[in-house]
Amino acid sequence: MKRIAILTAGADAPGANAAIRSIVRTAYYKDMEVLGVRGGFAGLLSDDVIILTSKSVSGILPRGGTILGTSRTHIDESQIQTIKEVMDRYRITILAVLGDRETMSTCELLSQNDIPVLALPLTIDNDINGTDETIGFDTAVTTIAEALDKLHTTAEAHHRVMVVETMGGATGWLALYGGISGGADFIVIPEVEVEKEKIVDHIYRRRESGRGFSIVVVAEGTKLPWLPQSEVGVGHALAKEIQDATGMETRITVLGHQQRGGSPTVQDRMLATQMGIQLVNAVKEGTINKMVAFSGGRMELINFDLASQIKTADKELYNLAEIFY
Ligand code: F6P
Repeated sequence: MKRIAILTAGADAPGANAAIRSIVRTAYYKDMEVLGVRGGFAGLLSDDVIILTSKSVSGILPRGGTILGTSRTHIDESQIQTIKEVMDRYRITILAVLGDRETMSTCELLSQNDIPVLALPLTIDNDINGTDETIGFDTAVTTIAEALDKLHTTAEAHHRVMVVETMGGATGWLALYGGISGGADFIVIPEVEVEKEKIVDHIYRRRESGRGFSIVVVAEGTKLPWLPQSEVGVGHALAKEIQDATGMETRITVLGHQQRGGSPTVQDRMLATQMGIQLVNAVKEGTINKMVAFSGGRMELINFDLASQIKTADKELYNLAEIFY
């Protein structure tokens, strides 16, 4: 009987538990067994393996985080033998790895060393290549949009500029989607170099036209030639520049790790569930060394060398966002 061992690696994201549940339930439905590895790749190296049954995933669908725990531990060549021994000991047919872009590089290394692996894209950053969306992105965007809704009312009441810093690593997906869906008045992302004057002029124009407040969303990974590096983050640096240039009272909100928390949205639950089913179908068919991707409305299986490349934010959409500033 085939045995799947699931592990979550890298940063957690809402929908991880929905994906674990989907893999476990689908696997038992199709006469396979499932194990869980706790603490990501670190758990695989330290032999931290548990049995997962349909009952053990009961009630986890709406929960954020991951019941297996995760870590940013990754594998190098010297640890391959240990992993093979653990897999032999537990009679593991294949690893089912849920993780971020760096995790896809680790999966590539495993596959190159004859360790069968299938993966699901799990990250709020949405920066994994080959898939239109990653599990966790929609929930994080929803959190950002809700935060912007709240910030709007107090910004308007005080005629302030609110700078809101989002997560996203090296990409601006979260800032772009969160900004558009939350009605931002300007969005700043790493993919597009923007002049300070453009932001400042826009804030002035809004004020002159009677809108005395502005919400500026900035992605944490943004670097601009005119923006001083700040130990406390790009949001603080940008807020200072805006306040100095406009003379308007400016406040900064760093949304931080709340973007990674909370119950997954319906969209993330569906994506996680469907990707989990797809992964188990691939195991059943004997397919190995692929990541499940959702592309153009269809589930696909793609290679790790493609998946581990960075997917940068959509510049065309960024330009269109200006319509709503
Ligand atoms: O990759 C997800 C992410 O939340 C990024 O958006 C962020 O830059 C990073 O992880 C934060 O990592 P940590 O939780 O280790 O501080």
